[in-house]
Amino acid sequence: MPPWILINHRDENWGRDVASVPDGATMYVTSGRTRVKAWAPAKLNLFLEVLGRRDDGFHELDTLMLPIGLWDLLTAEPTDDGSIQLHAEWAMPSGRIDSPLLTDRGIGQLPDAEQNLVYRAFELVRKTHCEPRGVSLGAVVRLWKRIPSEAGMGGGSSDAATALMLANRIWNLHLPFAELAQLAAHLGSDVPFFLYSSSCLCRGRGEIVTPVSSCQSLFFVIVKPPLGLSTAKVFQHTEIPRTPNDSGAIINALSNGTVDQVGKRLFNRLQSAAVSQYESIAQLARVFKRLDVVSHQMTGSGSCYFGLCRNAKHARHLAQTLNSKNLGNAFAVQSARVPISRRLCEQPGQN
Ligand code: C5P
Repeated sequence: MPPWILINHRDENWGRDVASVPDGATMYVTSGRTRVKAWAPAKLNLFLEVLGRRDDGFHELDTLMLPIGLWDLLTAEPTDDGSIQLHAEWAMPSGRIDSPLLTDRGIGQLPDAEQNLVYRAFELVRKTHCEPRGVSLGAVVRLWKRIPSEAGMGGGSSDAATALMLANRIWNLHLPFAELAQLAAHLGSDVPFFLYSSSCLCRGRGEIVTPVSSCQSLFFVIVKPPLGLSTAKVFQHTEIPRTPNDSGAIINALSNGTVDQVGKRLFNRLQSAAVSQYESIAQLARVFKRLDVVSHQMTGSGSCYFGLCRNAKHARHLAQTLNSKNLGNAFAVQSARVPISRRLCEQPGQN
């Protein structure tokens, strides 16, 4: 099982015809041929505080999210019949991309095509921006998933954000970033974050996104336990703190500090609620406590649990150790370094 995920990007021939996003998250897409391929990263929450419950049933958040090098892959090509066809599958180890997770029984179910956020993203763009212009555009979209579902790694949200970029590209809509961000927030709280490709502070219900600089690559070992967790249920069981923790210190540590300083400030308010739903989270916390990791916690609403490591070798070594303990699938990964400019590319003449 490969502990590291290879990203098969071509570095040359990047077009530069759309560039309308803020703050170091410039998006370039290629023009010309029509089939476009894009990579959708997973994320980890290094800090997550719940500030309060809102009248609309959502929670006010203060969370620091970091894209990591575990990727779903999407391709899209336009049609002129007005229909969206989505073919989604788990990426097979013998296929074009390998997943470190595919030996796990608990990788999760794929939703029916029309419930998939990728389908809903294309439909949303079609309804809001193609129909009003009187154009009947459709798309054939393929999705190869490696990011486990109900894992707190944002797989569905990342796919949705990437689908918005793809729709914008293949239908030549030239929607500005602000418009994509609005559509993203409509699709889900975490979706706007994935329009960026850096660590970000996310507030509101998650949709108010501010990029945060990060002075170094971070290395992690992650365990995906057999079961997933429902985000809604975990939020329901979360106690709202009287005095919330503040994200300022971890943002400073990420921007200017050492790995140890980042590690000291990891925090996730949702973890105790997740433990009440799924005992394996507590077991993972106990196992990680005995390991030589810088720091550790659950990501998002779970169920994945991660340890912050000193370097790639350390992360790979711990993935091996954890895989021998039968707690789920363990793998090593690093913070994603591929900018948005590299997430969309043409894919001439192949699948
Ligand atoms: O926005 P999204 O559809 O991803 O949220 C899934 C569920 O998670 C929501 O229905 C809600 O129950 C919960 N949630 C929340 N507060 C947030 C984000 C999500 O309560 N800020």
